[in-house]
Amino acid sequence: MSEAVDTQRPFWLTGNFAPTFEEVTATELAVTGSIPPELNGRYLRNGSNPESGESMHWFLGNGMVHGVELKDGRANWYRNRYVRTPQLSGTEQVGVDDRARSLANTHVIGHAGRILALEEGHWPFELSPTLETVGPYTFDGRLETGMTAHPKICPETGELLFFAYGMFPPYMTYHRASASGELVQSEVIEVKGATMVHDFNVTRNYVIFMDLPVVWDLQNAARSGLPLRWSDDYGARLGVMPRNGGNADVVWYDIDPCYVYHPLNAYEDGDDIVIDVCRMETHMKAGAPDAPPRLHRWTIHQSKGTVSETQVDDRMVEFPRVPDARVGLKHRYGYTAEVASGLPAAAAFRKYDMTTGASTAHVLKGGRMGGEPVFVPAAGASLEDDGYLLSFAYDPAENRSELVIVDASSMSADPVARVHLPVRVPFGFHGSWVADQA
Ligand SMILES: [Fe+2]
Repeated sequence: MSEAVDTQRPFWLTGNFAPTFEEVTATELAVTGSIPPELNGRYLRNGSNPESGESMHWFLGNGMVHGVELKDGRANWYRNRYVRTPQLSGTEQVGVDDRARSLANTHVIGHAGRILALEEGHWPFELSPTLETVGPYTFDGRLETGMTAHPKICPETGELLFFAYGMFPPYMTYHRASASGELVQSEVIEVKGATMVHDFNVTRNYVIFMDLPVVWDLQNAARSGLPLRWSDDYGARLGVMPRNGGNADVVWYDIDPCYVYHPLNAYEDGDDIVIDVCRMETHMKAGAPDAPPRLHRWTIHQSKGTVSETQVDDRMVEFPRVPDARVGLKHRYGYTAEVASGLPAAAAFRKYDMTTGASTAHVLKGGRMGGEPVFVPAAGASLEDDGYLLSFAYDPAENRSELVIVDASSMSADPVARVHLPVRVPFGFHGSWVADQA
């Protein structure tokens, strides 16, 4: 039987959004199909899992990372572990730095041999390869701000490019870490006020900040669970800056007001910068339902000082991803979670061909619901889409979850493999494939 859906409770506390409380280690996992033998590493995914069973908003639960290790065609283990930050009961310490008070619930990445659980207001938390919490990761004490949950790893240089935003000045700070994980640059970026800046963009030569009109407003917390609201006055801008530059180098471009949690990717096309985004017409606007996220393309014409915007598709899609090897470089394909129910879980993975706007979908069977599709390349891949999409999918008939592995090239209706887990994995946020070190 599936988890009962209680319509009196907010969506994030019911059904398969509801938290799970047991930390599980399961080995010798049953598999339907064949795990591609070149998938050697761990699929990791973070999510909001309120330890108390209650939270004011989907974004405000304690971080719990779920992972599956794959090796030589086998599924070695499934594990889920809370990220043990001072926000988790029993882990608070007197005198702890405020930047350590993270929920660490939004994303999990691998960089410079470390696994980092990320949230957007605080320091990263380092995890061991078996998901035990090591502690806050401060770049040798050099990181003087929090860190976005959406840093970008440049596939060409290995650099980690990221930013932090604040409710108080400095509202925006840009950071760049080397391939070996050394923080080598931090720059305060001037913006008009305190907004929620969830993600940003990189290309081969630039970073592009999104300064969008969802502003901090403490009065609003009681109404929506978050101290944020849409502003009709703030305006909307994109800020283009050389990757090694500073505030004086930022060129700002006005765009039509909107909110974007997640870009798919950005790249340079001559003097133009192309950014594909899941764009919401409005977000957190008083008295209005949130507009659905839809795939749009912004093209920044640097020579003309303008931005053009086109809608790619009508469908409601989120959690967009390109292969890690295409981040900041020209992509042809994008992969998204297609939302059918209005709740942020995927009934299908939708693949867009950005040369035409056409798309194909892998529809999950049997009422299963998934999340963000993470692309992993096939062995010896030469084509951009030669690889696999990985996501946890919830099977309501069994009240358990699976790791589904889908052929990204064909988007075949039959998964390549399904790794059966003994428990359900609540719907969550973002994840990564962390390949074994060569
Ligand atoms: Fe996100």
